[in-house]
Amino acid sequence: MKLWGGRFTKPTNELVDEYTASISFDQKLAQYDIQGSLAHVEMLAKCEIIPKEDAEKIKQGLQVVAEKIATGKAELTEANEDIHMNVEKLLIDEIGAVGGKLHTGRSRNDQVALDMRLYLREALVTLVELLTKLQDALIKQSNENLDTILPGYTHLQRAQPVLFAHHMMAYVSMFERDVERLKDSYKRVNRSPLGAGALAGTTFPIDRHFVAEQLNFDGVVENSLDAVSDRDFVVEFLSNASLVIMHLSRLSEELVQWSSAEFNFIELDDAFCTGSSMMPQKKNPDVAELVRGKSGRVYGHLMGMLTTLKGLPIAYNKDMQEDKEGMFDTVETIKGALALFAPMIETMEVKKDNMYAAVAEDFSNATDLADYLVNKGLPFREAHAVVGQVVLHCIQENKYLLDLPLEAFKQFSDLIEEDIYQVLSPKTVVNARDIVGGTAKNRVEDQIKLASSRLEESKHWIAVFAEKVNVLKKN
Ligand code: ARG
Repeated sequence: MKLWGGRFTKPTNELVDEYTASISFDQKLAQYDIQGSLAHVEMLAKCEIIPKEDAEKIKQGLQVVAEKIATGKAELTEANEDIHMNVEKLLIDEIGAVGGKLHTGRSRNDQVALDMRLYLREALVTLVELLTKLQDALIKQSNENLDTILPGYTHLQRAQPVLFAHHMMAYVSMFERDVERLKDSYKRVNRSPLGAGALAGTTFPIDRHFVAEQLNFDGVVENSLDAVSDRDFVVEFLSNASLVIMHLSRLSEELVQWSSAEFNFIELDDAFCTGSSMMPQKKNPDVAELVRGKSGRVYGHLMGMLTTLKGLPIAYNKDMQEDKEGMFDTVETIKGALALFAPMIETMEVKKDNMYAAVAEDFSNATDLADYLVNKGLPFREAHAVVGQVVLHCIQENKYLLDLPLEAFKQFSDLIEEDIYQVLSPKTVVNARDIVGGTAKNRVEDQIKLASSRLEESKHWIAVFAEKVNVLKKN
C-alpha cells in the first residue's frame, strides 16, 4: 500500500506509477533529504511534538538508511514514487511504525523545496571554486604573455594590436562577473522553506528558525505559499549558468579558431585534444567544441524551466517536479566544462612569434597614424581620410605602413616625420593605449593585480561557505 493510499480503492495503474515517479532522478537528493529530516526530527523533539526517545530512534534509523542508500544496499522503487517517500518507507522498514512520526508537520512540498536548496547551495560553492581555478589559469597565461602582441579583431578583421595578456584578462573579467552572480544568488537560495507544510503552514507548534539554523540557512522563506511554490532560485541559477557557458563558448570559439592552421596562434596540449578515426594527421579541439555545443542544452533548461513555471497557480503543482533534471544536468554540464577548461588553458602553448607576425602583416597601426596627425593639429576626421588614402596606396602597392619610405608618407601629409616608424611599431602602438583598462603593458599589469586581489576574496568566500554547506556532512 502507498504511504498515501488510505483514500484510494484500488492500486494506481502501473503506467501512472512509471509516469509520475521521480525516483529515477531525484535519488540524487537522497543525502540532502535525510539531512533535512534529521534537522526536522531534532526540532520535533525539541518542541515536544514527539517524544525524545522516538526522535532518537528515527535519527538512528535515518543514519542506517543514509548508509544503505550510499552503499547501494537500499532498494529505491517507482512504487514509492520519489526520494522522500522512498526514504520514509525505508525508515519504517528499518525501525517500525515509529518511523511514521517523522513526517509530522511536514509535507513533501516543503521537503522537496528544502532538498533542492540544500543541493544547489553546495553546487554553487563548487562552481565558484571551479571558476576561480579557471581564472587562475587565465591569469597565469596573462603573466606569461605580457609581451605577447597579437592582432585585436573587430568583425573578425584585424583592428588594433593588443597584448595576449589583455585578451586573456577580458575573460577573467567575464568569469569574475559570473562568480559575483553565483555568490549573490547564494543568499536567495540559502533560506529554509521547511515548515511551510503543504502550503499553509502546520498546526503543530514547530520552530522553523531552529531547523533553519541547524542546516546553516540564513533564515526562513517567510510566506508558506511562496516557500513551496518558489522556483525562482532554479531559474536564477539556470540563467547564471547560461552566462557561464556562454562565456566558455566564446572562449571555445577562439581556441578553435586560434588552433586552426589559418590562425596558428596556439596549440592545445595533446592531453586535451582528440584524433580522427580516418585522417591520421588530425588533432581536433573537441573539448572546446563540445563546450560550445553544450551551451545549447543549458539555455534549453533555462527556457524549459521558465516555460514550466509560467502560468502555474500558487502553490505546489506536479509540474514543478520538472525542476530537477534540468538543474542537475546544468550543474554537471558546467562542472564538467570548467574542470577541463582550467588545465586546458594552463597547458596551451601560445605561439608568440606567429601572433607577432600577424600583427606585422596588417594595418592594425592605422589608427595610430591618424592619432599622430591629430597630435600635430589635424582634426581627427581629416586625419582619418588621409590615412585611408595611405592604406589604399599600400594595398595597391602590396605594402604595409612600416614599408613606406618617408617621401611616400609626405605625399599624403607633410606633417609626417621620421619618428613615424617608431610610433607605428606594434610595441609602441600597444603601449600608447595607456589609459585605465587599455592594452598598454603597465595597464594590463594593473588589471592583473586588481583581478588577483579580488580572486583572493573569492577564495576566502569559498573557504567560508564550503564550511557552511559541509554542515551536512558533519551531523
Ligand atoms: N516528487 C515531487 C517533486 O519532485 C515531490 C513533491 C510531491 N508533492 C506532492 N504533493 N505530490 O516535486
